[in-house]
Amino acid sequence: MFAKDCWYVAALAREVDRTLLARTIANEQLIFYRTEAGQPVAMLDRCPHRLVPLSAGKLVGDAVQCGYHGITFNHDGRCIKVPGEHQISPKFCSTVFPAVERWGFVWVWLGDPAAADESKLPQDFHWGTEPEWTPLSDSLRVEGNYQLLVDNLLDLSHEAFLHMGTIGNAAVAETPAEITIRGDFVQVARFMKDCQPPKLFVRAAGFNTNIDRRQRILFTPPCYVVIEVVAVPTGTQGEERRLAWWVLNALTPETERTTHYFWGLPRGFAHDDAELTEMLRAGIFKTFEEDRVMIEAQQRILDRVSLDTRTVYTKADQAPGRARSMVSAMIALEAKRTHPGLDTGV
Ligand SMILES: [Fe+2]
Repeated sequence: MFAKDCWYVAALAREVDRTLLARTIANEQLIFYRTEAGQPVAMLDRCPHRLVPLSAGKLVGDAVQCGYHGITFNHDGRCIKVPGEHQISPKFCSTVFPAVERWGFVWVWLGDPAAADESKLPQDFHWGTEPEWTPLSDSLRVEGNYQLLVDNLLDLSHEAFLHMGTIGNAAVAETPAEITIRGDFVQVARFMKDCQPPKLFVRAAGFNTNIDRRQRILFTPPCYVVIEVVAVPTGTQGEERRLAWWVLNALTPETERTTHYFWGLPRGFAHDDAELTEMLRAGIFKTFEEDRVMIEAQQRILDRVSLDTRTVYTKADQAPGRARSMVSAMIALEAKRTHPGLDTGV
């Protein structure tokens, strides 16, 4: 079960063009494309006539022509052509979903279209396209449930064991996190004073002394984790060297056991360094590949054993636990709206 009354990142903005992109989001098989004016469109990948995939058809202007019988649907879903027929029933529609491009990503809303308000986008993602920040974004696919990736990002003590070649240092596991949970707000913060700089930090900012490292992790339901990262040489304000970036993580469920992992890494230093951008892209891919391997191994165990059977917890499990209960509450509320007679426990 997935929350539907929310925005999901469906694609990097550069992936959506004048061709049909077929992609499953939260179990819905969809197609994405742009109108001639550049607006993103999200449509169910299914012709209502014979239930064949529209992705086997083609774009004609702003409309999609089914590859089977040539029935054509405008970008608002309206059928505008049935070959050989002059009258078209107004009921002859494909299903379209609200879609917007914002902050370097294309977002789709799968729930009640009347509630698809852009103010409900996770606002921290605005860092992805701020003028003073150099953008970087990419994606990977993980054969694991999206909540395992949320768990992963809300407990970064794992960096000290899984990511020592890039962003890990011993301090990240040894420094207790300050966990703040207030209503719908979940934050995990760590200030690591006078610690060894992780290898990727050295490559990115040229640190040659110990550093003071700060990380602040924020969760927005159902699947967003943004991390503010700042590091300066110990005892300085970073007058000479300062590393500052945001890690924007959008863990879009594809199916119950697969995830589209979209990420951004806008940085606030060394803006004109294109080589650094590619070095960071490679460093983040190496890091997330390490996560992918671990999460996929975990998912294969969870295919047979429920996560709820475990009986031991750490303090750091608080934040992922709260994130999961927030998502469950969201899904229960939606069930109550769509099935008012149902007792969902909310
Ligand atoms: Fe990780």
